[in-house]
Amino acid sequence: MIDTAKLDAVMSRCPVMPVLVVHDVAQARPMAEALVAGGLSTLEVTLRTPCALEAIQEMSKVPGALVGAGTVLNPSDMDRAVQAGARFIVSPGLTEALAKASVAHDVPFLPGVANAGDIMRGLDLGLSRFKFFPAVTNGGIPALKSLASVFGSSVRFCPTGGITEDSAPEWLALPFVGCVGGSWVTAGTFDADTVRQRATAAALLKV
Ligand code: 3PG
Repeated sequence: MIDTAKLDAVMSRCPVMPVLVVHDVAQARPMAEALVAGGLSTLEVTLRTPCALEAIQEMSKVPGALVGAGTVLNPSDMDRAVQAGARFIVSPGLTEALAKASVAHDVPFLPGVANAGDIMRGLDLGLSRFKFFPAVTNGGIPALKSLASVFGSSVRFCPTGGITEDSAPEWLALPFVGCVGGSWVTAGTFDADTVRQRATAAALLKV
């Protein structure tokens, strides 16, 4: 069975879930420390680099960090991510195989949806928390408002894709948005102070 409460706990910890692409495992722990120090403790490590699983392991050692895996494309990715210590799973799209694997692992699963059909398939599978992806190119806030009006208050979203520090507050003000995802907090920098400062600003976005 899908445990929605567990997923809500993941989504409600912080307003912004940093979407991380780690190229060098040596940077994983300092990056997580800087993010947590700034107030962002829910971290999505994308499986897009060879060291991603090791990065999940390293980041999981940071006190206070809740580390999950993103860009999980199939059950085998999910197996490897959970084995590495991922405590939640994010995927760019929704498949039945992933939904079933998340139940087997008893791991919170946030699948990507882009339209009403995706959400309907998710609901059929017992899911009601979705990553709206790619949020901006899919029509942005007007599109998500239209979708949310169809499905009502039992469905909640984490919009991701094209969201910035400037645009995040408008998304976060929507009652059906639990948090937003974004890569801006670590984009283009390995400097811990910069990451901590960006994380501090992001953590304050929703009161
Ligand atoms: C993702 O991986 O979920 C998105 O690519 C993140 O989007 P952004 O880089 O536009 O924040």
